[in-house]
Amino acid sequence: MSLDFKILKTRGDARRATMTLPHAAVETPVFMPVGTVASVKAVPQHLLEELDARIILGNTYHLYLRPGHELIRRMGGLHRFMSWPRALLTDSGGFQVFSLNALRKVTEEGVEFRSHLDGSKHFFSPEHSMDVQIALGSDIAMAFDECTEYPADYERARRSLDTTLRWAERSKRHFDAHKNERPWEQSVGGRGQGVEDQAACFVGLTPNLFGIVQGGMYKDLRRESAERLVEMDFPGYAIGGLSVGEPRELTREVIAETLPYLPADKPRYVMGVGYPDEIVEYASMGVDMMDCVLPTRAARHGLLFTSEGRLNIKNKKFAEDQGPPDPECSCMVCRRYTRAYLRHLMTAQEPLSAVLNTVHNLAFYLETMAKVRAGIIGG
Ligand code: GUN
Ligand code: ZN
Repeated sequence: MSLDFKILKTRGDARRATMTLPHAAVETPVFMPVGTVASVKAVPQHLLEELDARIILGNTYHLYLRPGHELIRRMGGLHRFMSWPRALLTDSGGFQVFSLNALRKVTEEGVEFRSHLDGSKHFFSPEHSMDVQIALGSDIAMAFDECTEYPADYERARRSLDTTLRWAERSKRHFDAHKNERPWEQSVGGRGQGVEDQAACFVGLTPNLFGIVQGGMYKDLRRESAERLVEMDFPGYAIGGLSVGEPRELTREVIAETLPYLPADKPRYVMGVGYPDEIVEYASMGVDMMDCVLPTRAARHGLLFTSEGRLNIKNKKFAEDQGPPDPECSCMVCRRYTRAYLRHLMTAQEPLSAVLNTVHNLAFYLETMAKVRAGIIGG
C-alpha cells in the first residue's frame, strides 16, 4: 500500500496535509524533533506527547553502534524500546558517516568507517542500512546516500550524485523485499506492550522509504537527481546536502530550484533545517517536513527562541526578571517559571536547565508550525 498523504488545502505553494503512518497521523507542514540516540536530549517521551509531537527522528548510525539494532529488535523494536507510541523517522546513516570525514572510506559497495565511540571498524552498504532501519521498525526510513560536502566542484558533485542514485536503487530494492519482516511484532508482554496497542488503528500500514535528492549547489544536477529519483517511485522525497556550511540564501535557492521536480502529491522533506523564520519560509514554498538539532542543541547552551527573537538566558540582565521566558508562549515552562529562575539554573549548571530550555524551544518550534498550518487553512 502506498503512503497515505492527503492534501486538505493549498495556499500559494504551501500545502496543508495529513500523512498517515503506521504509528501516527502527522499534520503537515511538520517540524520533527531530533532524537539521535533514541532520546530527544533532555525531554522524556511523555512530555513530547504533551507537546503534541507526532513524529521524531532517530539515527541509524548511532543506534547501530549503541546499543545495536539487533538488541533493539530483541526489545520489540525502537517504538517499544524507548516507549514512543507515535511515528519515528530514521536517517540512513549516510549523513552521519560522512560527518566523520577522516574516519571513512567510500567505495561503490558502501562506506567503511571507524566508530566515533571506540575506533572500531565497520561497513555500511545501502542493504545494511535498510536492514538496520527495518530492525528498528521506523515508520519512515531514508535511502542510504552520500551527502556532498560544501564546497564541492561540479565533477565531484556529479560523481557523488551518481553514487547516491545507484545506492537509492539498491536501498529501494532491498527495503521493498524485506520491509515486512518484523519478527518482534509477534512478541507479547513486557513494559512496551501498550506502545503497540495504541497504534492498533493503523494496523496494516507498511513502513515507507524516502529517496534523497543530492547534487551539491548545482541547479542542473539537482534537477537530474530529482527526476531520476522520481522515476524510481518513492512514497516521499527528501532534499539533502543542505545546511552543510553554505550561505542561507543559497539553501533557499536550491530548495526553490528542486521542489518543482518533485511530485506535488507526495511529501517533500528538507533535511537539517533551520531557524524559525527559515522553517516558516520553506513551508510557504511547499516543503512538508523538516528536522533540525537547532532548538534542542541551542537550548542546552541557554539560547531560547521566542516571539521577541533570540534570548540568551545566561545574560545578567535576566537575574531578577520575573517575566516568563516568552510572554506570548503558553507552554508548560512559560506558564510556570521565570527568566530569573531559568538563568539561575543555567548559571548553576543544573540538569533541569536543559530540560526546561529544551521543552520551551520545542514548544516554540511546534507552535510555529501549528500557526503555519492554521494560516494555510484560514488564509
Ligand atoms: N541530514 C541532513 N542532510 C542530510 C543528507 O544530505 N543526507 C542524510 N542522509 N541526512 C541528512
Ligand atoms: Zn514557552
